[in-house]
Amino acid sequence: MQVWRLMKKFGTPLPNETMDSFDKTRVAFKGPLTTVVGKGFRSINVALRQQYDLYANVRPAKSWEGVKTRYDAVDIVIVRENTEGLYAGLEHYLTPKKDIAESLAVVTRAASERIIDYAFKYARDNKRKRVTACHKANILKYTQGLFLDIAREIAPRYPDIEFDEKIIDAACMHMVMNPQQFDVVVCTNMFGDILSDLTAGLVGGLGLIPGANIGADAALFEAVHGSAPDIVGKNIANPTAVIMAGAMMLSHLGELEASARVVAAVQKSY
Ligand SMILES: NC(=O)c1ccc[n+]([C@@H]2O[C@H](COP(=O)([O-])OP(=O)(O)OC[C@H]3O[C@@H](n4cnc5c(N)ncnc54)[C@H](O)[C@@H]3O)[C@@H](O)[C@H]2O)c1
Repeated sequence: MQVWRLMKKFGTPLPNETMDSFDKTRVAFKGPLTTVVGKGFRSINVALRQQYDLYANVRPAKSWEGVKTRYDAVDIVIVRENTEGLYAGLEHYLTPKKDIAESLAVVTRAASERIIDYAFKYARDNKRKRVTACHKANILKYTQGLFLDIAREIAPRYPDIEFDEKIIDAACMHMVMNPQQFDVVVCTNMFGDILSDLTAGLVGGLGLIPGANIGADAALFEAVHGSAPDIVGKNIANPTAVIMAGAMMLSHLGELEASARVVAAVQKSY
């Protein structure tokens, strides 16, 4: 999506027409948007997630039959907290010379409880076995420690779902060595962002992974990938992620049969 074309036409990357439509339907299907690195306006993706309180970012990475990768039978769902953490937007320079900058990570009990509870409910509703909380509570004792404490508090409420915890760096190593041990993974915002690209790599790449941004009364569906500037014009972009985001949206709208048909059609193409 050419954000600069939007800026030129409407003077904003988020025109009122778009927001009015989302306000009315409470469901959106979004293409990837470019966010310029290190300058320019704030990410529209982050703004939308925060404005509509789309707190759960659900990113399933599943092996496709016919897509050759290092591993078979990978089936991992990353449930990423989507509204706070290091992506809360609290960043500034500390000196006039702009040679020191800081970002603040915000982790709240309320947001952690709802995302961790969402992960367990998702596991139960989707007949999954285990939820793994990935964290860095050994070093970030307050922010990550709070998140982990809450995961440990909530886990016993779901005795039918196994719970385990992994320090994020070790989790990455385990994930590339033995991805089949992971089922549903829950983590704070930035760890979830990074881990979901890692899981995409396990099953064949970013062109395959859809994402749902779910709130209490609104939801936005999109591919996990960005605008892929390195392959523009080459006619090699894989549309699977976007199509599968559509299947997730249909399922969210209760159109389960239509959703299953879309998934089956994609599978047939491989
Ligand atoms: N939700 C979003 O809108 C979103 C998500 C991620 C990145 N972005 C933005 O996209 C821009 C580019 O970011 P990036 O290059 O880091 O990430 P990217 O996801 O656009 O690309 C990463 C790699 O994956 C490949 N890839 C992505 N989609 C593909 C597809 N459908 N088929 C085949 N290969 C595909 C790309 O060619 C590239 O090599 C940045 O401005 C970033 O902020 C937007």
